[in-house]
Amino acid sequence: MKTLIVGVGALGGILAGRLSGAGYAVWLATRDAESAAKLQACGVQVTGVGGALSVAVSAVLPLEQYSETDAFELIVLATKAQAAIDCAPRLSRLLAAGGTLLPIQNGGVSQILARELGSECVLGGLSNLGGTMTALGSYEQRNAGHLLIGELAGGLSERAERVRAALGRALDVRVTPNLRGAAWSKLILNCSTTTIGAVVGATMREYITSREGRELFTRAYDEALSVALASGVHPERMLVEPVPPGWSGGSVPSAAYDAWLGEVLAAYGELKASMLQDIERRRPTEIDFINGYVVDLGRQLAVSTPVNAAIVETIQAISRGVAVPSPSHLARILGAR
Ligand SMILES: NC(=O)c1ccc[n+]([C@@H]2O[C@H](COP(=O)([O-])OP(=O)(O)OC[C@H]3O[C@@H](n4cnc5c(N)ncnc54)[C@H](OP(=O)(O)O)[C@@H]3O)[C@@H](O)[C@H]2O)c1
Repeated sequence: MKTLIVGVGALGGILAGRLSGAGYAVWLATRDAESAAKLQACGVQVTGVGGALSVAVSAVLPLEQYSETDAFELIVLATKAQAAIDCAPRLSRLLAAGGTLLPIQNGGVSQILARELGSECVLGGLSNLGGTMTALGSYEQRNAGHLLIGELAGGLSERAERVRAALGRALDVRVTPNLRGAAWSKLILNCSTTTIGAVVGATMREYITSREGRELFTRAYDEALSVALASGVHPERMLVEPVPPGWSGGSVPSAAYDAWLGEVLAAYGELKASMLQDIERRRPTEIDFINGYVVDLGRQLAVSTPVNAAIVETIQAISRGVAVPSPSHLARILGAR
């Protein structure tokens, strides 16, 4: 499959390195000519889980230099969410007839792009593979995770299987008939564990010990889950069952709920929120596509999401530099109605 990877950051770089290392020819697109020249000069080095490798990359250009005549069969979109939305219309024109755009962002990006470009062009994707970029061209794979792909309309398809077989030569790629359900399960957790971590500047294990931290986790989670269910999605089990035990339109305190929360903590409690890392690096966050996506869809479906809306406002204030991550935000957010 003639494949272009757009965005050679943490995830795109690891995908590019692993695929090239397995002899799979990939074309790479960077944001600008300077990054393309740098990658061409230094190649791609991957360390960490999955083993170290170093590959030369020759087919790397700034995105604007690719054209319709390139006719890619597969474009893996590995930028952050806003850039993905901005460049996707151009990418759809770089596809061969019947070609596939595979976005792998967190949040609602796949679903937004399928609505805008048509689900015949967009295959849903998400990444449980984690990594960081230490410098352009140098990447560290942090876990043995996989890419999960599937049709956003649900069910299995021949093209999802073809993409799995192609990328699966170098990566753990799995197909699910319920990609929307899987994407929502991740999104609901991102709305609570990850974003609250960025609001307070702490891990879930740290903030959940306070009454307010625990209450905010529960309310943010319940609102996001309510929107998912109202949209007709069946959230799919990832590491933890997405619907807490005894859930009846909201979480119900019980020993079973405490045990479920313990499982969430075991899976995600020590992770430093990627959104907090974005804030610390003064980079734009993906808040509009995570809690912001839930708030927008909730509005359309008449599901109230005051806590998620207050979280969005708080992260936006932190990003503008008029607030800093702190547990002092919790009480105000919990007061949102
Ligand atoms: N990293 C992870 O462990 C991980 C795990 C799961 C999901 N995700 C999701 O995967 C997505 C990518 O994350 P990431 O950590 O890989 O982000 P990242 O390190 O910031 O990489 C994004 C890359 O896209 C490039 N880019 C921006 N605009 C572009 C354009 N128009 N054309 C070509 N390249 C462009 C950026 O270049 P510049 O730096 O020059 O702007 C950067 O190299 C996010 O949605 C994230 O939530 C990441």
